[in-house]
Amino acid sequence: MTCSILVGGAWGDEGKGKCITYLCDADKPNIIARAGVGPNAGHSVEFNGEKYGLRLTPSGFVHTDAKLMIGAGVLLNPDVLFKEFEDLKKYNVKERMCVDPRCAIITEDHMLRDKKSEHLSKKIGSTGSGCGPANSDRVMRNISLARDIPELEEYITDVSLEINDAIDNGEDVFIEGSQGFALSLYYGSYPFVTSKDTTASTFAADVGVGPTKVDEVINVFKSYISRVGEGPFPTEMTQEEAESKGLEEYGVVTGRRRRIGYFDMELAKESCRINGATQIALTCVDKLFDCARVQNYDELSAETKAFINDIQTETGVPVTIISTGPDLKDTIDLRKELL
Ligand code: GTP
Ligand code: IMP
Ligand code: MG
Repeated sequence: MTCSILVGGAWGDEGKGKCITYLCDADKPNIIARAGVGPNAGHSVEFNGEKYGLRLTPSGFVHTDAKLMIGAGVLLNPDVLFKEFEDLKKYNVKERMCVDPRCAIITEDHMLRDKKSEHLSKKIGSTGSGCGPANSDRVMRNISLARDIPELEEYITDVSLEINDAIDNGEDVFIEGSQGFALSLYYGSYPFVTSKDTTASTFAADVGVGPTKVDEVINVFKSYISRVGEGPFPTEMTQEEAESKGLEEYGVVTGRRRRIGYFDMELAKESCRINGATQIALTCVDKLFDCARVQNYDELSAETKAFINDIQTETGVPVTIISTGPDLKDTIDLRKELL
């Protein structure tokens, strides 16, 4: 029995989508539960040659025997969820989905307010998905919950109860965080942050699991850093430099060009500490070093191994998953050796 939480180590877009898909396909948990802020997230999943961009559905959907859940802490936009049901029809996502009755609902009004707030003097660069205004209404106790929406009736399940029962029955539970450590309302670069804490403890609370029930916290880092939207970025490189290194990126939700920077060890250390990380997953190693699709640790160059060792030594957390490409097969899994 293992209850794992996966979190983003920096400003989101660390490649959580790929890592979650790999881990759920490999470990086949009984329940895969989405935690985090809401549909401001964009997770990319490549599976069997097809590409999916997800905003609410757990990225572990490819493991078709798992129940999929959305925890009470997550903001829900029913239109986004129903569109994903259509896009993911062949994976029976709709039939497997459970929504906690206490999820708060994003409306058109929240999205409009989010777009308008961009005119404020402190331009945060919100995704415009309505999450900030919805969380603010939630705090003011002025928002509808999933239990109030007739279209959601067939999915309503006490997610916290289901997950705790599953853990007590010795089943495996995988909790997916969204966004990233540096976007946390508490620990990120305030005010250039999202509308909620984005660390492992909050993700556990999002799905109604207490800290004593969590076994593993997997912190995902990209081998370089990207940031969408405004705010400080100590290791940022110029756009020209990013282009010359082939590190140009665009956002899944907004299509905005991402700012790119070098790996930030100080941020990594803080992120591992506050998340209580037990493992690190390192993605896009192939984009920094010449190791595309390598599946064996021994085939990595000395320079690549030194980079990985440095992260391990500085953070004190083992790098158990090394991703060398977008496909699930492009993964070096060292969990048997290191844990
Ligand atoms: P999260 O928001 O953390 O879930 O990240 P994401 O999945 O949204 O990542 P992003 O939108 O930045 O997409 C990354 C792209 O890189 C996707 O097309 C992934 O399939 C792909 N990708 C993920 N891991 C790797 C990797 O190790 N190497 C390469 N070359 N591509 C990767
Ligand atoms: P909001 O959460 O949409 O209000 O956006 C606030 C800030 O967080 C902006 O800088 C967004 O670009 C950033 N942000 C929110 N969610 C994500 C995410 O999933 N990935 C990357 N950046 C995000
Ligand atoms: Mg993303």
